[in-house]
Amino acid sequence: PPATPQYRPAYHFSPARMWMNDPNGMVYLNGTYHLFFQHYPEGMTWGPMHWGHATSRDLVTWQELPIALYPDKLGMIFSGSAVVDANNTAGFGKNALVAIFTHHNPDEEKKGTGHHQYQSLAYSLDEGKTWTKYAGNPVLSNPGIQDFRDPKVSWHEASHQWVMTLATKDRITFYGSPDLKSWSKLSEFGEKLGAHGGVWECPDLFPLTLNGKTHWVLLVSINPGGPNGGSATQYFVGQFDGKTFTPASTTQKWIDWGTDNYAGVTWGNTGPRKLFLGWMSNWAYAEKVPTSPWRSAMTAPRELALQQVGAETYVTSLPVKELTQLTRIDKGNRASVTMENLTVKPALNISEKLKLTAHPQFQLKLTTKQLTDMALVLSNEKGEELLIGYDQKQNQYYIDRSKAGQTGFSDKFPGRHAGPRLATSPGAELTLLFDAASVELFADGGLTTMTEIFFLSQPFSKIALRAPGGLTVDALTYTPLALKKGK
Ligand code: FRU
Repeated sequence: PPATPQYRPAYHFSPARMWMNDPNGMVYLNGTYHLFFQHYPEGMTWGPMHWGHATSRDLVTWQELPIALYPDKLGMIFSGSAVVDANNTAGFGKNALVAIFTHHNPDEEKKGTGHHQYQSLAYSLDEGKTWTKYAGNPVLSNPGIQDFRDPKVSWHEASHQWVMTLATKDRITFYGSPDLKSWSKLSEFGEKLGAHGGVWECPDLFPLTLNGKTHWVLLVSINPGGPNGGSATQYFVGQFDGKTFTPASTTQKWIDWGTDNYAGVTWGNTGPRKLFLGWMSNWAYAEKVPTSPWRSAMTAPRELALQQVGAETYVTSLPVKELTQLTRIDKGNRASVTMENLTVKPALNISEKLKLTAHPQFQLKLTTKQLTDMALVLSNEKGEELLIGYDQKQNQYYIDRSKAGQTGFSDKFPGRHAGPRLATSPGAELTLLFDAASVELFADGGLTTMTEIFFLSQPFSKIALRAPGGLTVDALTYTPLALKKGK
């Protein structure tokens, strides 16, 4: 297929060439954020998995590096995590980077024994440049569970051990280890809780504090069974005592209600700051999206926090503050524009006032003291249109990409997707981040998040507000986004 540079994101990571899915091995070391990823370097669809590798020092610009892990006689390299072994518990070396991943053995899979996924190690003594697979692999063999994968490992200080959070078919199994090499089962969670429309994958377990109290968050991706179809990531908030995870409530929660944020986990070794990103696609159509010569990008990195609403504790996601450097661009040509006290009834075209330049990367921020039925309508000369709005009757935010450019590559792609408004305040604040082929909505301080991809034939050149019953917008700011020159 012809190349599609118009869909290449500017500040979201995408591989130069070929297929990518889940983020893997995310770990911070000596000023560098490492991002490994599920990668098939010889094809535009899923195939024998490798770990690709990229790094960033600012979470905004990414440099792709040589492939870190290749398939071997034990199998393909499926998803997993990486840790900094500061105390050399594994004996590979002080501060070794240790990757803990799933080996997926296709020959075993053909035999149908159900033993084809097991956990293995690789280590790097040069900050991720070169990797050596551990000679004693696998370190956790398969007990006969068909889906037994995606280990996320972190050091649990209180119980003084490494804890592995593993997706085991329809539940999570926790394992503990003193040295990353020998693992013993701690407990299971979730067989009868949460969404089970599909297999459980790519979990993560980490603490966050709220008003001085520590809560543990357990992320669990599922495919299919997401709230708007296909793949999505649910989460639980509760306690973890070094052995058992106990959820504080049974309310179903999703880290992102949009269609395009899957298999997301957090970076290790960042201290109390919890930074997350996901794969910005969906297994329902990922192999068909009309980009070339690469497929898929990651979401923007987000900082996670907790917020209490009534009796529930929710995880909020907001773009990392590092991304604000994208707003400091050549002020002369493309300046940020703020409009205040807008009365919308029934509609208002704001394109001219915003001095829109049909620049694909931009941010919109909207605040109102009284949220009512409303939509932001983004469109172009070709009549392509994306709607992002709030439905007061349903108390839902929504994104409708049915008419936003190319949709015919999969019947699972077009549609209107919704997520509940969780905030109870009358006023609202929406932040929207646009890149060449994606939008990320952060509403109410990140309580409701929606990520969606789309494929326009040309960038948006018009923005209008619609509010049939009337809406007062206190402020709306349009900010073009660009990477600093010379990078
Ligand atoms: C999630 C997933 C993981 C697996 C990987 C294989 O998208 O299915 O469970 O490790 O992709 O590429």
